[in-house]
Amino acid sequence: MQAWPGSACPGRAEAFLEGAQLPQTKHSKPDWRMGGVTAGPVEDYLYSLLPPRDEVLTEIEGEAAKRKIPIVGPVVGRILGQLALMTGAKRVFEMGSAIGYSTIWWARGVGQDGRVFYTDGDRKNAEQARRYFARAGVADRIKIGVGDALELLSEEKQEFDIIFNDVDKEDYPRVFRLSIPRLRKGGLLVTDNVLWSGKVADPKNVEPSTKAIREFNRLLYSSPALFTTILPVRDGIAVAIKQS
Ligand SMILES: C[S@@+](CC[C@H](N)C(=O)[O-])C[C@H]1O[C@@H](n2cnc3c(N)ncnc32)[C@H](O)[C@@H]1O
Repeated sequence: MQAWPGSACPGRAEAFLEGAQLPQTKHSKPDWRMGGVTAGPVEDYLYSLLPPRDEVLTEIEGEAAKRKIPIVGPVVGRILGQLALMTGAKRVFEMGSAIGYSTIWWARGVGQDGRVFYTDGDRKNAEQARRYFARAGVADRIKIGVGDALELLSEEKQEFDIIFNDVDKEDYPRVFRLSIPRLRKGGLLVTDNVLWSGKVADPKNVEPSTKAIREFNRLLYSSPALFTTILPVRDGIAVAIKQS
């Protein structure tokens, strides 16, 4: 299912993208803008509203576009930062951090006395992220872990205010089972890509990743301990609060 039909009003988005000096794909949008489930012109409008990011975030957006790293991008990045601010979160565990773009949004959201746990299976990603964290002025509030995010979560004994899930999609049901007990009451499980370019709504799509996300979403909504909503922005963000 192609959920991104191309923009009916390209001018605004292209102006925004030029401003950010992002490399263009053959679709004339960076890869992290692909898969958006919002109608093209509406999504363009959302991006056109955004204030410019600082030098480091802008550079990571360009790097992610060039290397096709599927970062959350600035519309979702702002949601992450806002969720941290709204809940007063001080301890965030991030599963699947790549080169640290979403990590920086969390780190700024938790403030100077907060702590964000970066995790990724790729050591080179972690090295690059470490350099970005230093330049972004948030290195002292980020702990970097390299390896399987689910194992790294099990090694941490504390409870978290927020767990952010952006690992391989086949692992989502396992993330559900491991992460809920690790959240404090009132804590959030936040998950990217839960609409998976709209594939979750296509009954003919039985890819393992799609099936895993469907199962994950079902678990989120059927758990009596959670109150869940999905924000249909970009590729879908699930926000589940642990009530009991
Ligand atoms: C979608 S990217 C993360 C993007 C990042 N959250 C952002 O928005 O800036 C997914 C990353 O998760 C990592 N990954 C996938 N499964 C993982 C796992 N089980 N443990 C650790 N890292 C994992 C991959 O190496 C990849 O860099």
